[in-house]
Amino acid sequence: MKTLKILVTGSSGLIGSEAVEDFDRQGHRVTGIDNNMRREFFGPAGDTSWNLARLRSVTRNFHPLDLDIRDRRRLFDLFKSERFDLILHCAAQPSHDKAREIPLVDFEVNALGTLNLLEATRQFCREAPFVFLSTNKVYGDAPNELPLVENETRYDYARTEDFEGIDENCRIDRTLHSLFGASKAAADLVAQEYGRYFGMNVGIFRGGCLTGPHHSGVELHGFLSYLIKVARSGQTYTIYGYKGKQVRDNIHSHDVIRAVEEFARAPRPGEVYNIGGGRPNSISILEAITRIEELTGSKIRTVYRDEPRIGDHICYISNLGKLQAHFPNWGITRSLDLILKEILAAEMAHRHAASLA
Ligand SMILES: NC(=O)c1ccc[n+]([C@@H]2O[C@H](COP(=O)([O-])OP(=O)(O)OC[C@H]3O[C@@H](n4cnc5c(N)ncnc54)[C@H](O)[C@@H]3O)[C@@H](O)[C@H]2O)c1
Repeated sequence: MKTLKILVTGSSGLIGSEAVEDFDRQGHRVTGIDNNMRREFFGPAGDTSWNLARLRSVTRNFHPLDLDIRDRRRLFDLFKSERFDLILHCAAQPSHDKAREIPLVDFEVNALGTLNLLEATRQFCREAPFVFLSTNKVYGDAPNELPLVENETRYDYARTEDFEGIDENCRIDRTLHSLFGASKAAADLVAQEYGRYFGMNVGIFRGGCLTGPHHSGVELHGFLSYLIKVARSGQTYTIYGYKGKQVRDNIHSHDVIRAVEEFARAPRPGEVYNIGGGRPNSISILEAITRIEELTGSKIRTVYRDEPRIGDHICYISNLGKLQAHFPNWGITRSLDLILKEILAAEMAHRHAASLA
């Protein structure tokens, strides 16, 4: 097998770190870019340096760089010297709510940072597959226009034709995005152009809830990871609106990377895919609380604020039909329960290590 030179941005984050480990295990040379900006966004709880230390200890051919994707000159120098075979772009300001406090930084990181990477790829390694991690927030609150039913513990789609969830035909304009959704939509469109206009091997993955044990979960980003953190620490979890019946579909970071690999093997320029856990891995906040209480054997303290987050999805399930049709070898391999147990085990190990330190 040929050793590939792979670039992963956001390499200390949830998805980036999964990719680093996976590609390193396969014998590739992985360059990582991460400036730990998650800590700047979310404070000490968002610090990803623990994950970088972990990666250093488990990898063999990983080369992390403390580089900001907004720094075009350094980025272009790197691309000039390395000529990557594959680029996975995961670095981002990832929070819907955070963006309102830092609109300029949010746009510079999400939109301009993505353009910097696409242009560097075009100039120095234009054949390389490039996967951009976009988000379901590009649809804004348009998914909330679907007729819903309210069940005992969750909202659900009322019509049978919506059963599998939101597909890529959902419109992305004339809808309320939050500034985060808008900066990611800008990046998503530019990435599509590098595929469609320049014919480059760019794929766009619009994520539902991406999760796993290596998330530095905080209240503003990383729903299950944060909920489990709160459950273990005895803090209080705030439920914002919709009676806690809002639904998210959750996919393990491992299954995200498997999709990236499938795309890299047979890229389709400019193609857009929804990616999430799909219906089997969907759960409402109320249901997640109950299940985590069952798993931990202890009650989670909650408070309810009857005020939904602006633009929050009431019921979002990713329709995975297109991804599965284009890449028949891909499918979900980690169930929701397995995901919860993995995050729980990681959180316990983390707390144990912290208590020894
Ligand atoms: N986790 C989710 O639920 C979810 C859902 C939909 C889409 N996404 C998208 O997937 C991608 C990866 O998400 P994640 O959950 O791994 O996020 P994450 O916050 O865990 O990882 C992102 C990493 O990027 C780094 N970073 C931020 N700004 C940077 C900059 N200017 N230069 C270099 N590094 C920078 C951060 O320090 C962090 O380690 C993001 O684009 C995000 O928008 C995530």
